[in-house]
Amino acid sequence: MITLNVNVDHFATVRNARGGAEPDPVAAAMIAEMAGASGIVCHLREDRRHIKDLDLDRIRKSVQTKLDLEMGANEEIIEIALRTIPELVTIVPEKRQELTTEGGLNVAESIPRFTKLCSKMHDKGIEVSFFVEPNEEQIDACVVAGADMVELHTGTYANLRRHDEIDAEFAHLKRSAEYARSAGLKVAAGHGLNYENTKRICSIHAINELSIGHSLVARAMFFGLETAVRDMVNLINTHYALSAKK
Ligand code: PXP
Repeated sequence: MITLNVNVDHFATVRNARGGAEPDPVAAAMIAEMAGASGIVCHLREDRRHIKDLDLDRIRKSVQTKLDLEMGANEEIIEIALRTIPELVTIVPEKRQELTTEGGLNVAESIPRFTKLCSKMHDKGIEVSFFVEPNEEQIDACVVAGADMVELHTGTYANLRRHDEIDAEFAHLKRSAEYARSAGLKVAAGHGLNYENTKRICSIHAINELSIGHSLVARAMFFGLETAVRDMVNLINTHYALSAKK
């Protein structure tokens, strides 16, 4: 089974465009859960461009499934995570000027720093995932640092247009997911996944969870969030089951 975690950042982006109270990302989280999401993801960025501290408090109080707090590894946000106690933190690289997270984190470059971070989170019962490129060096580094999970970056796979290149990147993702699973890590995947390119990803049974935001919100604008989440959950379940039969 592969479960769906819904990222609600974009609701906060639309809300912040007018500085008011709607659409409320907390309401979005509740609707997503009722429609079948297995977890809620939000990213508290250093510049607070979408999710604000108060949103995170309210999301923490209302989430019934599991809260995955995406965050850069900076001291202020680490302290907030340790106070908020999400079930999971996903550590991502964060640059101020980027439109969204661009590429995976280099865990291999700073293993001692990330080992310390894992141990702080574990002391509070918080699991740790690192958002990395699909390669063995980074996965090995996550194991050494004491991670519970890796989230494999699917952005490259999602952005490619040539079939041969897509096939090669898909093979990369599959190999990496299986490698991470066999190393004892739980495996997530995300970035740029939509109602088309997610189908094939569901044939990688070493993946436990998908983290999806933008395409769900885009569909929700036309059909409503409940339908958007239900359609994605059904798509994931259908394509997982179809690939299990092959
Ligand atoms: N996973 C991570 C680590 C991310 O940074 C993002 C973007 O916020 C996502 C998943 C979701 O990506 P998308 O919005 O393209 O579905």
